[in-house]
Amino acid sequence: MKSFDVCVIGSGPGGYVAAIRAGQLGFKTAVIEREKLGGVCLNVGCIPSKAMISAAHFLHRMNHDAETMGFSFKGDVSLDAKKLQSWKQSVCDRMSGGVQQLLKGNSVEVIAGDATFVDSKTLSVKASTGTEKVTAKNFIIATGSRPIEIPGFKFDEKDVMSSTGALALESIPKSIAVIGGGYIGLEIGGYLNKLGAEVHVLEAQDALLKGVADPEVVQVVARKLKKEGVNVHLKAMAKSFSKKGKTLELTAQVEGAEKKFTVEKILVTVGRKPNSDEMNLKQIGLQIDERGFIKTNEQRRTNLPHIFAIGDIAGQPMLAHKASYEGVMVAEVLAGQNRVYDAKTVPAVIFTHPEIASAGWTEEECKAKGYTNLKVGKFPFAANGKAVSLMETDGFVKMIADAKTDILLGVHIVGPEASNLISEAVLAIEMGARLQDIALSIHPHPTLGETMMEAAEATLGHAIHIIQKPLTSARPQPQAKA
Ligand code: NAI
Repeated sequence: MKSFDVCVIGSGPGGYVAAIRAGQLGFKTAVIEREKLGGVCLNVGCIPSKAMISAAHFLHRMNHDAETMGFSFKGDVSLDAKKLQSWKQSVCDRMSGGVQQLLKGNSVEVIAGDATFVDSKTLSVKASTGTEKVTAKNFIIATGSRPIEIPGFKFDEKDVMSSTGALALESIPKSIAVIGGGYIGLEIGGYLNKLGAEVHVLEAQDALLKGVADPEVVQVVARKLKKEGVNVHLKAMAKSFSKKGKTLELTAQVEGAEKKFTVEKILVTVGRKPNSDEMNLKQIGLQIDERGFIKTNEQRRTNLPHIFAIGDIAGQPMLAHKASYEGVMVAEVLAGQNRVYDAKTVPAVIFTHPEIASAGWTEEECKAKGYTNLKVGKFPFAANGKAVSLMETDGFVKMIADAKTDILLGVHIVGPEASNLISEAVLAIEMGARLQDIALSIHPHPTLGETMMEAAEATLGHAIHIIQKPLTSARPQPQAKA
C-alpha cells in the first residue's frame, strides 16, 4: 500500500496543475493516469487541434493570400497528411513530456494505471504490471469527460469518429459529415475544409453556436464558413447511416424534410459528458447531480470532506483553463490558504477562422441580470493597420458596459488573434474596470491590441479610426458675456 498526503486522479490540465501546486506546497503527492500525461487537452483535444488548425491556416494562406502579396508557386502546394500527423504528434509528445518533467521536478510520483475507489480512503490502481493499493489523506478527482454518443452513430473511430479519431486521421477524407455545429465541430470541420475535404455541418438548432457565443459574432464566422465552402445545414438532425461500398449514406431531417448525404466519414461532436459513472464514485457515497457532475462547494470540496473534484467532472464550463484554476485553488485550500472559486469570468475561445473569444456577459445575459441600461460599441478589424497588413480584416471587438457607471460587463471578439486579445478583457472585468480604464491606457502601435482601446472609445462614442456621430456633450459651450 502506497500512501500520500494528496492523491490526484487524472493528469489533464486540472489534475497535473493541482499535483504540481501540491508538490510546490510540500505535500507528498501522487498523480494517477491511465493514458498519457496531459489528458484529453494535451493529447487528443486542445493542443493537437491547434496544431492541425495552424497547419491548415498555413496552407490556406499559401493558396489564397500569398499570390496577392506577390508570391507564386510552380505547381500545386501538396500535403503529406501522414507527415502532418506525425508533426502534430510530436507537438503533443513534447507537451506531455514537459508535464512529466514538471511533475518530477516537483517530486510528484506518477502512477500509471486505472484507479477505482475500494472505499472512500483507498484506491485500487490496475496497470498492465499488476494492481496496487493507494491511500491518501486527501484525493482530488480530475478525471474529466468524454464525447457523447448519439443513437445510430456508435463510435468506431473509423467510419464514425469522435474528435479523437478525427484528430488522428492519416489521410484527409474527400468528404465528411460533422454532426453538431458547436466548439469541436466547427474547429475540426473548419480545418478539414481548408485541408481539402468537402464538409457538411449538421446542426440541430437554427443557428451555429446557439447560446454559446454572441449572435453577431457568430454571424461573421458563419459567413466566412460559407465563403470558404463549408456546407452548413441548420435545423438538421442526423438519424442514421448505412454503408454503401466505400462510402457512407447519412440520413437526416433537415428543416422537416428527409435528406441524404453521401460522405466518406462521419464526425459526431454533440457535446461531452462527465466521467462520473466510473471509479465507484456513487458507491463510496459521493453526491452527483442530475447532469452527472460531482457536487462541490465553492472550494471544490465534495460531500466527503477529504475528497475534492475539479475540471470537467465538477461542472461547466468544460474548459481547460477553468480546470487549472480549480487545481491550483484546491492545492492551496489543502495548504490552509483562504481560497474560494471567485472568478468573475471564465473566458471562452473557439478556434474558428476568424477566432471567437469572449469574457463576461452577452447583452441578453446583462439584461437578465438586471442591467437594462447598456452602452454597446464595436470596433472593426478592417480599421486596424496591423489587421490590414495581416490580410485578416474580418470581425470586430464588441464591448458592453453599464451605461450608469461605464463598468465593463462583457467583451466579445471575432477576428485575428481573438484568443490572445481576450486576456486584456479578463483582467479588466476582474478588476471592475470602466471603459475609460481601457481607452486611456496607451496601447502600442501598430498592433491588434489597439482594437481593444478603440472598442472602448467606440463604446464611449468617440473612437478615432471610425466615423461616429459627433459628441455634442464635448463641444465647447459658448461663454456667457460678463
Ligand atoms: P458543444 O456543446 O459545443 O456543441 C454541440 C452542438 O451539437 C450544439 O450546437 C448542439 O445543438 C448540437 N447537437 C446536439 N445534438 C445534435 C444532433 N443529434 N444533431 C445535430 N446537432 C446536434 O459540444 P462539442 O463541440 O462536442 O464540445 C464539447 C465541449 O468541449 C464544449 O462545450 C467545450 O466546453 C469543450 N471544448 C472547448 C474548446 C475550446 O475551448 N476551444 C474546443 C473544443 C471543445
